[in-house]
Amino acid sequence: MLDQHQRIIVTGGAGFVGSHLTDKLLARGDEVICVDNYYTGSKRNILHHIGNPMYEMMRHDVTFPLYIEADNIFHLACPAAPIHYQHDPVQTLKTSVHGSINMLGLAKRLGIRILQASTSEVYGDPNVHPQEESYWGNVNPIGIRSCYDEGKRAAETLFFDYHRQHGLEIKVARIFNTFGPRMHVNDGRVVSNFIIQALRGEPITIFGEGLQTRSFCYVDDLVNGLIALMDSPADVTGPINLGNPHELTIRELAESIIDLTGSASKLTFKDLPQDDPMQRRPNIDKARELLNWQPTVAFEDGVRKTIDYFDTLLSGNQHPTKPNGQV
Ligand SMILES: NC(=O)c1ccc[n+]([C@@H]2O[C@H](COP(=O)([O-])OP(=O)(O)OC[C@H]3O[C@@H](n4cnc5c(N)ncnc54)[C@H](O)[C@@H]3O)[C@@H](O)[C@H]2O)c1
Repeated sequence: MLDQHQRIIVTGGAGFVGSHLTDKLLARGDEVICVDNYYTGSKRNILHHIGNPMYEMMRHDVTFPLYIEADNIFHLACPAAPIHYQHDPVQTLKTSVHGSINMLGLAKRLGIRILQASTSEVYGDPNVHPQEESYWGNVNPIGIRSCYDEGKRAAETLFFDYHRQHGLEIKVARIFNTFGPRMHVNDGRVVSNFIIQALRGEPITIFGEGLQTRSFCYVDDLVNGLIALMDSPADVTGPINLGNPHELTIRELAESIIDLTGSASKLTFKDLPQDDPMQRRPNIDKARELLNWQPTVAFEDGVRKTIDYFDTLLSGNQHPTKPNGQV
C-alpha cells in the first residue's frame, strides 16, 4: 500500500497553538516541518518531538522567502498576545503581511493548500453580536492594536487575492480566544494571568468592572477545527469562525478560576486598556455546517488542565516566556 502521509509545514510551530497542532498531525502519521524564529515560541513546546524522524525544526523568519517542498501549509507564525505584538509593532505587521506574501508565494510555487490563522480581532470592537463571518468589523486603523488587527486583515486580503488571481487553494480560520497548556506565562492574556495570580495567591487583576465578555476555546478543540478546515473540500475557503460560543464575563472567569484553584486571591480593578473590546462571541454555524465541527471540551475541564500545566511550571521554577525566548 502507498504511504499516504503528508509533509506539512507549520509556521509558528513552536508556539502555543502550533505545538498542539504539531502533536496532532504527527499522531495521525503526517510529517511536520516547523518553521519558527522563536520570537514568542519555545523549543520547550516541541522538545518531545526532537529525534522523531517525521519531525523537523527550521529556524526561519517568515518575513524572508522560503524555498522548501511540502504538501500543505498551516500558516500560524505571528505573535498573538498584545504585549508580544506591541513589543515591536512594525515587525508584527511585517510578519502578517510579508510573512503571508512569502508563504502564499511558496504555496503558489508548489501548487499546494495553505491555511491562514486569522483572528476574531479582525472584527475589532464589534457592534454586531455574536460575530458572524459576514460582519466587516470595527477596527481602529491607527491604534496600539492595529499592527495586529490590520496585519491580520491585510493577510486575509492577500489570501483571497491569491485565491482569485492565481487559483490558490486557501483556508482562512478566524480564531477566537483560545487557552490551554503551553500558553505563555506572564503574557498578559486573561486566562493564563488569572491562573498564575490565583496559584500565587496574588490579587486577580480585572480591567474595568469585569463586565466585558469573552468566550474561550480549549486548544484541543481549536486544533481539531483547524485540521477539519484544512481537510475540507476545496470550495470551503472560509473565512470561518473557530471558537467556543460559551460566553462569560471576565469577572465570572476570575471567580471560576479562584474556585477551581482553591485560591484565597481577591479581585482588584484597573482601568480598561485602549480599544479593549466589550463583547466577543463567535457565531460558529458555518463551522458546524461546513466542517461538522464544534467544541466538545467543557470549559472547566480545559481550565483544570491549564491549571495543572501552570502549577507544574511554576513549582519547577520554569519561566519559558521572554520576548524572544529560547528554552
Ligand atoms: N491563541 C489565541 O487565542 C489566538 C487567537 C486568534 C488567533 N491566533 C493566531 O494563531 C496563531 C498562533 O497563536 P499562538 O497563540 O500560538 O501564539 P504564539 O505567540 O504562542 O505562537 C506564534 C509563533 O509564531 C512564531 N513567530 C512569530 N513571528 C515569526 C516570524 N516572523 N517568523 C517565524 N515565526 C514567527 C513565534 O515564535 C511563535 O512560535 C497566530 O497567528 C495568532 O495570531 C491565536
